[in-house]
Amino acid sequence: AKEADVFMVAPASANVIGKLAHGIADDMLTTTFMACTCPKIISPAMNTRMYENPITQDNLKILEHYGMEVIRPASGYLACGDTGAGKMPEPETLFEYILRTVGYPKDMAGKKVLITAGPTREAIDPVRYITNHSTGKMGYAIAKAAAYRGAQVTMVTGPVSIKPPMFVKVVPIESAEDMFQAVTERSEWADIIIKAAAVADYRPATVSSEKIKKSDDQMSIGLERTQDILGYLGAHKRDGQFLCGFAMETQDLLENASQKLKKKNADMIVANNLKVTGAGFAGDTNVVTLITENGAEEQELMSKEEVAGVILDKIMEKIG
Ligand code: CTP
Repeated sequence: AKEADVFMVAPASANVIGKLAHGIADDMLTTTFMACTCPKIISPAMNTRMYENPITQDNLKILEHYGMEVIRPASGYLACGDTGAGKMPEPETLFEYILRTVGYPKDMAGKKVLITAGPTREAIDPVRYITNHSTGKMGYAIAKAAAYRGAQVTMVTGPVSIKPPMFVKVVPIESAEDMFQAVTERSEWADIIIKAAAVADYRPATVSSEKIKKSDDQMSIGLERTQDILGYLGAHKRDGQFLCGFAMETQDLLENASQKLKKKNADMIVANNLKVTGAGFAGDTNVVTLITENGAEEQELMSKEEVAGVILDKIMEKIG
């Protein structure tokens, strides 16, 4: 009891929850629990009607009142044969709760963070679209790190194949226009905005409502500009808001990225050179340079998780 950094009760039965809520310590589990001063997490698992019983619900509220975290049970087929809420979540899910509790500093508690991630899709016709190679890994890693460091995180994401992190509010979108709407609706709310998405700069000027049939001639698609979301956010930045953009370049990295910082009125640009080994879209690593008004700081090759940490450290340092 003295050594534990975190105490999780999983599965927590209605009986144990009742005892813990009322200070009954009459066995190994409940006495140890009472003697522990570390953060405590309860994962209720029981029959649906037992879980929904107002007595159990009141007991869970008492545990929350004492500062414990209660994990909502999953729904599904239960051991008793009923189907409904009451299943213990998967061990991987429970592990994420533990990780969030003890694995990260809580230096971003109280901060509201809006993150964009992934590619956009610009429709040509009902079958085809224009997109890019973004996997969403970088934006998802930042969203996870910010949430685990205590921030309230909303992530506006284009279609990707990876799972969104837990503890993050996810807003799925498809096109650059969808992303513009979703981001500008929420931008006033955010203390920190991080634009990791690879947004299309152009979209087909007309979208065919029917599938375009091939012919023997050459064919071309007329394109028009999309809204520059980062540029818009920079022009409408509210007091105290921190705006971080990304720049993916293949040449003149520092010069191009520094220009973006000024032109878009951003507070920081995370620049990477697609041609450097270990940088860019597909892999699990990145090599970035953080550009602010005070200059450029080149970082070494790191995992995208580590890069996420470095980006958030820098932002927290800048906003004090
Ligand atoms: N971005 C955006 N809205 C767009 C396009 C890009 O908000 N319509 C954001 C990206 O999320 C990223 C940054 O702007 O944070 C990238 O800047 P951008 O000038 O679009 O980069 P490139 O498209 O690479 O620009 P250029 O073609 O001038 O190199």
